[in-house]
Amino acid sequence: WLPSSFVLCVPTAKVGKTSLIMSLVGEEFPEEVPPRAEEITIPADVTPEKVPTHIVDYSGNMTQKKKNSSSLPTQANVVCVVYDVTNEDTIDKVIVSYLVLCDFRVPIILVGNKSDLRCGSSMETILPIMNQFSEIETCVECSAKNLKNISELFYYAQKAVLHPTAPLYDPEDKQ
Ligand code: GTP
Ligand code: MG
Repeated sequence: WLPSSFVLCVPTAKVGKTSLIMSLVGEEFPEEVPPRAEEITIPADVTPEKVPTHIVDYSGNMTQKKKNSSSLPTQANVVCVVYDVTNEDTIDKVIVSYLVLCDFRVPIILVGNKSDLRCGSSMETILPIMNQFSEIETCVECSAKNLKNISELFYYAQKAVLHPTAPLYDPEDKQ
């Protein structure tokens, strides 16, 4: 079995990708982070689905980079697109144009970070996007700061690689 790789990337900068990775790995919120976390492989025995997992961080605003650019995450088995839940006014347009630009063709997880900074949820904004892109497996709101849903995010990413739902799979039919 090949290690599953897991990439965090984002349409806009400073949403907390690097903080999320460091919170996951260090189990505490780092007050200061470098622009990019080192690439890391998490050993199978400490992951929820027992699969070694390679994590790659991307820095900066990727909408400015051209499609086919080598900086786009082309080798990932799953891509986590991180947004900031406090930026709800613009985030739906930004995510949609980003997903169209990148055309990932692998399972995508939408990750709303900084949930500690707002009450309520961004799901109303995110649900229409999930309906528009069948490659989006799930979405999760989390906080690198208070470690909320960080391990769940990791679990969803592994699950998306191991047990992807086919695009036409309708969970209602299988009940
Ligand atoms: P770039 O690499 O520059 O694109 O940024 P990034 O997406 O890696 O974000 P980074 O992890 O550098 O975090 C940006 C800022 O947001 C930092 O000041 C973090 O401390 C802060 N931050 C990250 N996650 C959270 C969170 O869950 N809650 C709060 N309140 N702040 C956060
Ligand atoms: Mg970063």
